[in-house]
Amino acid sequence: MASPVCRLCVLLVLVVVVASSSLLNQTLRAAGAQAALVMGSQFKLTNIQNASEPKYKAMHAKQYALSTAGNACKWQSTHRVGPADYDLTPCLQSFSYATEAEQAFRAHNLCWGEGNPSWLLNGGYNASQLRAILRDHIRTVMMGLKQQTSRSPLAYDVVNEACESKRNSDGTFFKSAPPWYPAVPNYVDVAFQTAREADPDTLLFYNDYGSEEWGTPKAQNVYAMVKDLVDRGVPIDGVGLQMHLSLDPYPNATLIGENIWRLGQLGLQVHVTEMDVKCPEPCSSVQLAVQARLYGEVLQACLYHKKVCTSFETWGFTDVESWLNGDRCEPAGLCHPLPFDEQYLAKPAAEKLLRVLQANRDQKL
Ligand code: G3I
Repeated sequence: MASPVCRLCVLLVLVVVVASSSLLNQTLRAAGAQAALVMGSQFKLTNIQNASEPKYKAMHAKQYALSTAGNACKWQSTHRVGPADYDLTPCLQSFSYATEAEQAFRAHNLCWGEGNPSWLLNGGYNASQLRAILRDHIRTVMMGLKQQTSRSPLAYDVVNEACESKRNSDGTFFKSAPPWYPAVPNYVDVAFQTAREADPDTLLFYNDYGSEEWGTPKAQNVYAMVKDLVDRGVPIDGVGLQMHLSLDPYPNATLIGENIWRLGQLGLQVHVTEMDVKCPEPCSSVQLAVQARLYGEVLQACLYHKKVCTSFETWGFTDVESWLNGDRCEPAGLCHPLPFDEQYLAKPAAEKLLRVLQANRDQKL
C-alpha cells in the first residue's frame, strides 16, 4: 500500500499530465486570440472543396483565424484567358470560404513576375499598355471582390517578390519580373497607387522571401525599397516576410526580430506570410525537434514585436499538401515542412507554436 505522501505525488503528476494535455488540445486560433496574434494558414481551394477529404477543410477552419488562397487570386487564375476576360470565381469562392469560417482573408497577389498568363507575356505590349493592363487588373479584382462580397480582405499582397539580393549594374535591385520589369520601371508605384484607389479599406502589402534577417543583402534591399515608397508617399501599409526556411543554414531569430523592428520604425506592419521549414526525408525526430524550435523562435520574434508583427501564417498546415513536396525537396519526395503531419496530427512544431502562444497570453485580455 502506497504511503499518503506517495499518493499525493501520483495525484500531482496526474494533474500536471491532464493540465498539459488539455493545453495541447487548444487550437492555434484560440491560443492566438489569447496572445492577441492572428494565426493563419494558406489553403488550396480544391482541397477545401474536396468532399471526400473533409478533414482538410474542418481542420483548417478550426485551427486558423486567417487564411490565404494559394493560387486562386493570382493572375493565372483570375485573368488567364485574355485582357478583357476575367474570372474571379475561384478567388471569390476562397474569400467566401474564409468568411464562412469566420476567418480574415489575405488576398495573394496582384502583381508578380511569375505565374502570368501567356497572353500577357507574349502580347508584345509596350510600357504604357502594360501600365494600363496592370491598373485594370488591380481595379477589377479589388473592386470585384468588394462589390460581390460587400467587404474587403484584411490585406492584399499588392506586389510579390520584386527585389533581388544583388544590385543590378545601374544600382537598382529590382528583379527581372516579366512582363513588368524592366519594361515598366515604376510598376511597383503604379500597383500600390492603383490598389489604394481601388479599395481604401484594406491593407496594402509588399511580400517577399529571403529577406527575413536584418543585415542580409536582400533584407537591406527590401528595406530600402519600402523606405523609398514610404518617403515618397506611395501608399503601403506593410511587408510580408514569407519565411520559407530550412534547418541548414539555421536562421537567426534575433536578426529576424531586428528586421521586424526596423520595418516597424518606418510605420509599417509586418505579417509572417508563408512560413514553412524544410525537413527532407528521412526527417528524424531530432530534426523535427529542431524544426519545432525554429517555428517557436520565429513566432516569439513576432510576438516580441506584437505592435508591428500582426499576423503569423504558414504556407499550408498539413505535410500532405505543400508546394515543396516532390521535386522542390532535395532529395525529391516529402519535405515535412508544416506544423501538422500527413495524418493531420500535431507535430512538435504545432505543440511548440501552442506553447509559445500560451506563454505570451496577453495580460490585458
Ligand atoms: O492548375 C494547373 C493545372 O490545371 C495544370 O494541369 C498543372 C500542370 O502543372 O498546373 C496547375 O497549376 C499549378 C498551380 O500551382 C496549382 O497547383 C502551377 O503549374 C504551379 O506553378 C503552381 O505553383 C504554385 C506557385 O506558387 C506558382 O504560382 C504553388 O502551388 C504555390 O504554393 C506557390 O506559392 C508561392 C507564393 O505564391 C509566393 N511565395 C512563394 C510560394 C511558394 O513557391
